[in-house]
Amino acid sequence: SALPRALSGIQPTAGSFHLGNYLGAVRQYVALQETHDAFYMVVDLHAITVPQDPAELRANTRLAVAQLLAAGLDPHRCTLFVQSHVPEHAQLGWVMNCITGFGEASRMTQFKDKSAKQGTDRATVGLFTYPILQVADILLYQADAVPVGEDQRQHIELTRDLAERFNGRFGETFTVPAPYIVKEVAKIYDLQDPASKMSKSASTPKGLINLLDEPKVTAKKIKSAVTDTGTEIRFDAAEKPGVSNLLTILSTLSGTSIPDLERGYEGKGYGALKTDLAEVMVDFVTPFRTRTQEYLDDPETLDALLAAGAEKARAVAAETLAQTYDRIGF
Ligand code: ADP
Ligand code: NA
Repeated sequence: SALPRALSGIQPTAGSFHLGNYLGAVRQYVALQETHDAFYMVVDLHAITVPQDPAELRANTRLAVAQLLAAGLDPHRCTLFVQSHVPEHAQLGWVMNCITGFGEASRMTQFKDKSAKQGTDRATVGLFTYPILQVADILLYQADAVPVGEDQRQHIELTRDLAERFNGRFGETFTVPAPYIVKEVAKIYDLQDPASKMSKSASTPKGLINLLDEPKVTAKKIKSAVTDTGTEIRFDAAEKPGVSNLLTILSTLSGTSIPDLERGYEGKGYGALKTDLAEVMVDFVTPFRTRTQEYLDDPETLDALLAAGAEKARAVAAETLAQTYDRIGF
C-alpha cells in the first residue's frame, strides 16, 4: 500500500464506550482508514499491567471489538486485531526492554501517575515497562503515524529514541514514527459538570453518555443536561460551558458548523437545542447498539474476523521481528 501506515491501540475497558471516547477518538480511527494503511489493536497485553479478572478481560476485549466495528471500522479498509493474538508484540517488547536504560524508563511520567494511584508497592513491573511494549507495538508495523492524545507524547518520543538507537547500533531496521495529534478533535464535557471532561471513572451516571445505554435513557440525560444562565444559544466555552458542550456534540454528530447552528437557534430557547440533540443522539446510538449486539450475538463471525485481522497483522509483524532477530545475532 502506498498510504502512510498508522497504528493505534485501544484499551479493552469495561462496558460501553462513552460519547467522549467516540467523538474524541473512535471517529478519528474511522476517518484514518481512508487516508492511512491503519492498524488498530485492542491492547489486552497492556490491560494486564493492572489487576484483571480473566472472564471480564475476555468479555471486554470482544465488546471493544464489537463497538469498533459498529462505529465503522471496516476490516477491508483497516487491520483490526487483538494484541495477544500476535505473539511478536511480546517478543519485540523483550528486545526493546534490553536496549532501554533503567533511568530512561524511570522518567516516564505515566508510570509515576499510575503507580501513585495504586500505591507503588502494588504496581507491577509490567506497568513500569508498558511504554516499552508500546514502543514494540509501533515499531513492529513500521508505523509512520501514531494517533495519540497529548498524554502519550512522551511515549512516542521514547519510540523515536529507541528506533534510532537500534538503527544506529544494528543497522536500519525500524521506521522512526511521528506523533499524529489530530487537530480540532472534539473534547466532550460532563453533562452535569461541564467544567470537567466526560470520563468513565470521574463522571456521575447522569453526566456520562454511554453509547450502549437505552436510547431513551440517553435522550433523558440530554434533556436534563446542565445549561447556563441566560437564554441565548451561543458558543462561549468560558461563560456558557453547558450550552457550548451541547453545541459541540450536535455539530460533530450532525456535520453542521457551530456558527450555522447558532444562526438556526436565534430566538429559540435551550429546550429546542436539547430536543434536537436528543433526536440526533437517538438516531446515532440506536443503530450503534443494534450493530454491537449483532456482533456479540455471532461469536463465530467475530472470531473469524479477528483471526483474519491477526493474520494480516502477523504478516507484517513477523517480517519485522525476523529482521530484528537477525540483526541482533539470533
Ligand atoms: P476515560 O477518560 O473515560 O477513561 P480513556 O482515557 O480510556 O477514557 O480514553 C480513550 C480515548 O478516548 C482517548 O483517545 C481519549 O483521548 C478519548 N477521550 C476520553 N474522554 C474524552 C472526552 N471527554 N472528550 C474527548 N475525547 C475523550
Ligand atoms: Na486504509
